[in-house]
Amino acid sequence: MRRIITVSSGKGGVGKTTFAVNFALTLSRVAPTILVDLDTGTSSVRNTLDVNVSHDLYHFFRRDRPLFDCLSTVDGRLDRDGLFSQFAFVAAPRHAIEEITNLSDAARWKLIHAINQLPASFIILDLRAGLDSSILDFLPLSNSGILVFTPHHPAATIAAGDIVKSLLFRKLRILFAEGSPVFSTGDDRSHHRLVNELLDQVEDVYEERLPNLDAFLRDLYQALGENPYLEAISSVVQTFAVHFVLNMFNGVEESYENAIRPFVEYLMQSVSTHLQLVNLGWIVEDQRIHRANCERRPILLQPLTRPEDRPLDPVLAELASLETSVLGLPTRSQPVVRKSHHDAVADLTGEVPLEQQLQILNSMYRSRGALHVRDNFAYIAHRALHMIRDLPADTFGQPRLLTPLELFDALVPHERRG
Ligand SMILES: Nc1ncnc2c1ncn2[C@@H]1O[C@H](COP(=O)(O)OP(=O)(O)O)[C@@H](O)[C@H]1O
Ligand SMILES: [Mg+2]
Repeated sequence: MRRIITVSSGKGGVGKTTFAVNFALTLSRVAPTILVDLDTGTSSVRNTLDVNVSHDLYHFFRRDRPLFDCLSTVDGRLDRDGLFSQFAFVAAPRHAIEEITNLSDAARWKLIHAINQLPASFIILDLRAGLDSSILDFLPLSNSGILVFTPHHPAATIAAGDIVKSLLFRKLRILFAEGSPVFSTGDDRSHHRLVNELLDQVEDVYEERLPNLDAFLRDLYQALGENPYLEAISSVVQTFAVHFVLNMFNGVEESYENAIRPFVEYLMQSVSTHLQLVNLGWIVEDQRIHRANCERRPILLQPLTRPEDRPLDPVLAELASLETSVLGLPTRSQPVVRKSHHDAVADLTGEVPLEQQLQILNSMYRSRGALHVRDNFAYIAHRALHMIRDLPADTFGQPRLLTPLELFDALVPHERRG
């Protein structure tokens, strides 16, 4: 059950690194986990972990060391009870180095190849903010990885929505690229052009006629009637899963109004009403989290002081009890019922998933008093593990990072090729 999971956000300062570090530490209680700091301009992972880094990405890129040699671990000083012996991380260079901050294509493929070889069950990638190919190339094709946003940064919430939009369009562009076998199934080349022109219009935010992919499907249906593209596109949209974590949670009302609602509304308006949205959980806003970062001993590595800060051992039992007691969420995700493209086109007003999001938030909040901050991470890790174990591999994260050729292979089934 090997899985590479990205942690990203459109903008910085939302707690990506804080989340990635503590999430990776939590997962490492279950299986070997490696955190890779890909925010190579700020090197923030090593700044929140007080350990001696002997090799980092500098050595990988400039000294040609295998990535495996660039792993650092937490020693007995930070991890007195040896609970996190399965955790390791790859630090970014100590100082920003232009060619490592802005990776060339060749350097990026070298790194992607090396990440695929890392010996771990879970590999967490702490990405930097932005939307260029040095970020998108690390993200999965059929889901968003984990997006982090907070009620404090409205612009960052929209930027997280833009990641989803970019990923979906990236996938559709490859699917409908010139020469793509999807188009060599005997259809008119003018259809090919039409689909790409409509995609241009949807992607262009200043083009108001086609605000999202639902409108695009409607237009395509009107222009061509029944056609093979409809199904291809609506299946790409409907199977795309968006996973998010709300950081600096500060109460249901504010978190909902300032983060969840704008996020969901933005996705519905400018992408589609048919995406699967999964709220993985939240992390409270708590000075202990910030202080722990400043001490370079993340909250998960802080000694347990109060009796109610019960130790995480045995972690699996605790995770399991959390799931049933905290949320009352179903332990098994419902199977995804895919709508036919007829329904998808007919149902363009869409069923609003907002109400459901509010319910989830409310049930999370009710049990807040019983929780320690670190339980937030345990809860999210537990949900992630459940998805990794019980759902198809492309639902959450990805088993390996794809090279451009593999990307095409993955998207265009062999039987559809000319
Ligand atoms: N849940 C939280 N409660 C309090 N402070 C937080 C929390 N999450 C992050 N912080 C603080 O917010 C700042 C930004 O967090 P960081 O993880 O570096 O964000 P990013 O990686 O997205 O830039 C840091 O000072 C961090 O200590
Ligand atoms: Mg960071």
